[in-house]
Amino acid sequence: MNNDSTLCDIGFIGLGVMGKNLVFNLADNGYTIAAFDLDNEKVQAVIAQDKLENTTSNSRVVGCSSFTELLSKLKKPHLIVLSVPAGSPVDQVSESLIGAGIQPDDIIIDTGNSLWVDTVAREQKYKNNFIFFSSAVSGGEVGARFGPSLMPSGSPYAWARIKPIWQAIAAKVDSTTGKPLERTQAGQIISEGEPCATYIGPAGSGHYVKMVHNGIEYADMQIICEAYHMLRTGLKLTPDQIADIFEQWNKGPLDSYLMEITVEVLRHKTPQNQTPLVDLILDKAGQKGTGLWTAMSSLEVGCPAPTIAQAVYARSISSFKELRIEAASTFTQHSVVELNDAEQQTFIQNLHDAVYCAKICAYAQGFQLMKMAAKEHGWKLDFSSIAKIWRAGCIIRAVFLQSITAAFERDENLENLLLDDYFIQQLNKHQQNWRQSVADATLLAIPVGAISSALAYFDAMKTAVLPANLLQGQRDYFGAHTFERIDKGQGKKYHVQWSSEHRDITEI
Ligand code: 6PG
Repeated sequence: MNNDSTLCDIGFIGLGVMGKNLVFNLADNGYTIAAFDLDNEKVQAVIAQDKLENTTSNSRVVGCSSFTELLSKLKKPHLIVLSVPAGSPVDQVSESLIGAGIQPDDIIIDTGNSLWVDTVAREQKYKNNFIFFSSAVSGGEVGARFGPSLMPSGSPYAWARIKPIWQAIAAKVDSTTGKPLERTQAGQIISEGEPCATYIGPAGSGHYVKMVHNGIEYADMQIICEAYHMLRTGLKLTPDQIADIFEQWNKGPLDSYLMEITVEVLRHKTPQNQTPLVDLILDKAGQKGTGLWTAMSSLEVGCPAPTIAQAVYARSISSFKELRIEAASTFTQHSVVELNDAEQQTFIQNLHDAVYCAKICAYAQGFQLMKMAAKEHGWKLDFSSIAKIWRAGCIIRAVFLQSITAAFERDENLENLLLDDYFIQQLNKHQQNWRQSVADATLLAIPVGAISSALAYFDAMKTAVLPANLLQGQRDYFGAHTFERIDKGQGKKYHVQWSSEHRDITEI
């Protein structure tokens, strides 16, 4: 290793919002960075910000104007972090680094939201050129700056080198309470606590886990939005009144980052006339694809994740704004139910419990999906560690993750969170209110697809006999697809000669 002190510890490519903030997080933790972006203005902006923030006499960030210059400014073997958009930019940068002379023992860490199968392919594709390592990052801009949740996977050799750096920059959790140890100022570091960075497994597994994190994020956000809709349309509450309710909810089991930011969004007013901003935002949701990938993967793996899929559909439905406007004036609208104060309180309490139970189901779906995918791909995932690194830094961070950590600590082979004693007790306690809330929404014609799909999932998962017996009969009728019988030995297949006079049942 070349220890020339003028050389930087880490190369960084891609200085967009996430990249720039990760650079300063690394710098706060004492690492020197050679930074490059195809857009030189971004390089200059990072240098200018470093001049303002750097309280040491040494320069922490060195700007580079080419891939070759970047390599020349780094200690060997090179360690380079990429924060570029997922997809072809990752390959374009990798090819450029090969052209610039990157070596087989150099390490590239992809921190974007890459599709996990691309990561698997890239590890193979570049294995003679350099070590392609990946580490998904969650936490948005603020997380990247002050402590994200990190999901690294790939070569264990590369991880040994990256681990101290990743554990330094990651969010930290108080190991006894499971609560985040917040860092909010430039220059500040937190050295105690459990870092939210753990090795996930072979190439691709970290990005798979991050993909499912995002699928859960979609569901969590949609569930909160449906609760807002119920309160705004059903009870005709103002955004401020809803923010008050969510602020209360945020003190109990629903305490989460997403609930906290929802309160802030709801309270925000335009400076001109103090109109709640939320009333002015167009109701068409965007998406970059990770929720869709999670839903697709759940279908491929055969793991039910209807609440996650429904959250993706809800965004799609929102995009049909013109169609919705036309249909709104076509169909009968339902009148608002007038409730007295006590009834309103009951409505709100039922809704709280519905949000809580739906959230449990969304996480149950996400964790079971990871479990089934791990089995299919031969990964050995540690679910209590995954729940632990989601307790701080990431977008779905929540008090609730401590209960999930505990569930997997009680039973590392837990098939589904719905079978954990704590969650059984919680669901039993709150399910009646959840049902009432879904009934309220149905009668008020307020779409609560995520909350109600979670209830249907819960009911199906706890029903010993489903109508799939009839379905098998139908399949056998038109396609001779055969069926098994509960009164015969397992695995034996039967078929009815539906077109024959006696409709005999034969063993196949
Ligand atoms: C995170 C976020 C991050 C990003 C999502 C948003 O964990 O930091 O999930 O990855 O904000 O990609 O995705 P959509 O644009 O699809 O909502």
